[in-house]
Amino acid sequence: AVNVKGKSLLTLLDWSKEEIEAVLQKGIELKRERKEGKLNTSLNGQTLGLIFEKSSTRTRVSFEAGMIQLGGNALYLNGQDLQIGRGESIHDTAKVLSEFIDAIMIRTFEHSKVEELAKYGSIPVINGLTDEFHPCQALADLMTIYEEKGTLKGLKVAYIGDGNNVAHSLMIACAKVGAHFSIACPKGYEPKEWIVNEARKIAEQQDANITIVENSIEAVQDSDAVYTDVWTSMGQEAENDIRLKAFSNYQVNDELVKHAKDDYLFLHCLPAHREEEVTASVIDGENSYVFQQAGNRMHVQKALLQLILG
Ligand code: CP
Ligand code: NVA
Repeated sequence: AVNVKGKSLLTLLDWSKEEIEAVLQKGIELKRERKEGKLNTSLNGQTLGLIFEKSSTRTRVSFEAGMIQLGGNALYLNGQDLQIGRGESIHDTAKVLSEFIDAIMIRTFEHSKVEELAKYGSIPVINGLTDEFHPCQALADLMTIYEEKGTLKGLKVAYIGDGNNVAHSLMIACAKVGAHFSIACPKGYEPKEWIVNEARKIAEQQDANITIVENSIEAVQDSDAVYTDVWTSMGQEAENDIRLKAFSNYQVNDELVKHAKDDYLFLHCLPAHREEEVTASVIDGENSYVFQQAGNRMHVQKALLQLILG
C-alpha cells in the first residue's frame, strides 16, 4: 500500500505513479461520499494554513471548504499581512508555522520559496501555484479525464498556448500516468527545457511521448483532451499586449477542435478569457468539462490532505 503521510507536494516529480493513482482513487471516493451525504471527520483538530501572494478563487475556496468538510480548519493567510510581507525570512516563517499548524499550502511567485518553506518547516507543504508549477491543478485534471474516459494510460492530451506553470504540471502528471502529451506554443513560449527533460524521462518509462510543436492542429490531432490556459499569467500583466499578439494563432476554437476526437474533453484550469485563448462556443459547448474540473480541485485536494495528514 501507498504511504505518503507527511509528504509535501511541490512539483509532483517526486510522487510515484502509484502515489498519484492513490490520490485520484481517494478523490473519486470522497466525491461519492459527499454526494451520498456521508460525514467524514478524518481531519478533526487539524489545521491547514493557506498563504497567498497571488489572487485565487478556486484554490482558496476548495482548500478552505475541503478542510472544513473533513472536520479540520483552514487559515487564510494573506502574504501582505504576514511578516514575510515585511521581509521576515521564509526560514523563520517555516519554523514558526510548524509550531502552530499541521500543513501549509502556499501560492507565490518563485518556486524556490516553496522549496525553502518545505526544507525548513517540519510539516508538509503543498504548492498552490508558483510561476513554474501548479500540481494540485494537474491532479484535478487527471481526475476529470479519468472520470470521463475510465483510463489515463495511452490517451492523448493536447495543450495549446503558453508553456507555463499549468502546462508544466500537466505535462509531468501525464508522463507519470502514461498519457501522451502534445503541446503547441509560439516560439519563445515553450515549456522550460529542464522540466521537459525530466518529464520525458518519466514518460519513457510509461511508453508515453511528449511532443512540442508550433502548429496547434498538429498538437490537437486525434486528441482525447484539449487544454488551454490564459496567455498572460499572474505577475506577467506588463507583457499583456505582446502576449496577445504572440498567441493570436493559438486560440482554441471550433475550427481547431474539429481535429480532436469527436468525444474530446475541453479543459481549462480557469479563470478563462472568452474569445482570447478559447471561444465561448468551445468553453460553453457540450465537450467542455471545466466546471467539473474546477469542482474536482476540492475532491482531489481533500484526498491529498487525508493521505498526507490522516
Ligand atoms: N485554477 C486555479 O488555480 O484557480 P484560482 O487562481 O482561482 O485558484
Ligand atoms: N497560468 C495561470 C494559472 C492560474 C490558475 C497563472 O499563473 O496565472
